[in-house]
Amino acid sequence: LGASAVAVPAAGLLVSATRGKVDTVGRVAFTNRVQAPPLAPSRIDAAGRRVFDLRVRTGRREFVPGRPSATWGIDGDYLGPTLRARRGERVLVNVTNQVGETTTLHWHGMHLPPEMDGGPYQPIRPGATWSPTWTIDQPAASLWYHPHPHGRTARHLYRGLAGMFLVDDAPVPGLPHRYGVDDVPLIVQDRRLVDGRLDPDEPMSGTTGFLGDQLLVNGVLGPYLEVTTTRVRLRLLNGSNARVFNFTFADGRAFAQIASDGGLLRAPHTTRQVQLAPGERAEIVVTVAPGERAVLRSVAPATGAGFVQRDGGSDRFDVLELRAAARLAPSPGLPARLADVPAIPARTAVRTRTFELAEHQINGRKMDPGRIDAHVLRDTTEIWDVRSGDGTLHSFHVHDVQFQVLSVDDRRPPPHLAGWKDTVLLPPGTRMRLIMRFDDYADPHRPYMFHCHMLYHEDQGMMGQFVVLERGQPPAPPPSPGLRQ
Ligand code: C2O
Ligand code: CU
Repeated sequence: LGASAVAVPAAGLLVSATRGKVDTVGRVAFTNRVQAPPLAPSRIDAAGRRVFDLRVRTGRREFVPGRPSATWGIDGDYLGPTLRARRGERVLVNVTNQVGETTTLHWHGMHLPPEMDGGPYQPIRPGATWSPTWTIDQPAASLWYHPHPHGRTARHLYRGLAGMFLVDDAPVPGLPHRYGVDDVPLIVQDRRLVDGRLDPDEPMSGTTGFLGDQLLVNGVLGPYLEVTTTRVRLRLLNGSNARVFNFTFADGRAFAQIASDGGLLRAPHTTRQVQLAPGERAEIVVTVAPGERAVLRSVAPATGAGFVQRDGGSDRFDVLELRAAARLAPSPGLPARLADVPAIPARTAVRTRTFELAEHQINGRKMDPGRIDAHVLRDTTEIWDVRSGDGTLHSFHVHDVQFQVLSVDDRRPPPHLAGWKDTVLLPPGTRMRLIMRFDDYADPHRPYMFHCHMLYHEDQGMMGQFVVLERGQPPAPPPSPGLRQ
């Protein structure tokens, strides 16, 4: 190891950051037990709503024992609890801001009215409580939440503000579903620790934004997960600012991908890798043998990423060790069919819009609160034709809707992109046609966002706004002031 090697002896982790490349394969000592994030407590109020209370606050976390870091968290020091609600339920979330800086909390992947979305137009000032309420109206899915303040999303997420929001629907027999036992969300984030402490400044590296040299899973460095059943369901979230992961197992074992961002796939997809851009999720089911240890690894992403993530062109990370107990409770076999995912026919689209992501802009324009980029009509279907136009990776995300990928460079999408999505990795030069329906929540005054989920790009202005209008409703002037925070 060269002079730039960083030793973190307490965690047994040794990382070579020489020449900006990171290779932790075989170097991570999995000494810290990781568990599912705690479930957020909830109650049912007199109106029948499921009520959650969340406090966004500052904290202190020892990622490495004896080296406390200043962090932010939701009801904890770092990250937040898992919210959980059933389709059809009405929820109310009281979010109190105790970080002393204006922030927001956005429900990523949720179909909900624009004023409940938690984007830049719903700032929560220091000391204030914001109380969005909406009815869960979408299939079972692993959604998540994170701040979205105008121009500051990268910083707030980096400090630790993020958590899962699981939507439940009719149970699917055969799928592992015991939270924290055989059904475990894993929030994977790269971070930089200096001397074992989280660098509070979200240091920049290159054109994609922050790339860290160490991995946290649910906020734990050098993590292992105890497995007590023959199959375990992992709900993977790439909660990084800019890093793309390409998850595999060190022994090359196959696993089943069962869900993408917005819900279950039609059928389990057997694969050996799953690639996730920032903001994307995948649920996988892994089979383990008694007593074995299986290492989840991220290898150089298959498409494009090595080309762009210059600091980490050949980056390989050991992510997590699965530790199977000597005796495992048997799990049922996976069902052959998981969910109905009715294809949205291309011929139902009333229009196609093109979006080129390049140079921190979309279609040559930076985010401008004074401009609405797209007026869409309620009860219509549109095709959004998106591509990366600058030789850089982007991660394209649309609020309010779950879309389907119609085509990738004019070919049918691969199986892992065949279900509901709200975020897609756009490799350089790749063109994707996304089809989406706008069924609800017309409001000429309140925009939803679409943007790159590489948070540096987003904060730099690679974002636009759309409003949903009723047929015949005239566009309103944009709600321009108020985003300065
Ligand atoms: Cu996860 Cu507009 O973001
Ligand atoms: Cu981008």
